[in-house]
Amino acid sequence: MSKTHTLCHIDDISDPGAKGFEVKQGRQTLGLFVVKKDGQVYAYKNECPHARVNLEWQEDDFLDMDNSLIQCSVHGALFVIESGDCAGGPCNGQGLQKLELQINDDKMLVLQL
Ligand code: FES
Repeated sequence: MSKTHTLCHIDDISDPGAKGFEVKQGRQTLGLFVVKKDGQVYAYKNECPHARVNLEWQEDDFLDMDNSLIQCSVHGALFVIESGDCAGGPCNGQGLQKLELQINDDKMLVLQL
């Protein structure tokens, strides 16, 4: 059975920008992040496919220097914001795990798990 989690208001994330979250899933906690670019939002599990670790080294710091790609802080793997596909570095053609995100009438971001 799917469950929804309200994350934040869409305006709480700068454009372009990103924000990390942790949500409870039964006894486990799921780390994820949301990226906003050109008014669109994308959610991914916070786990680099290279070494299965969190991507950010500082809070909410998921993007590269010019905010055009998602970047892993550990070995520099790059991912396309819109798809999560690997765009360079040691991710070996793998991508980030995309999560289903909706925006409700109050412009709250709602994650569907
Ligand atoms: S852990 Fe992300 S690039 Fe190595």
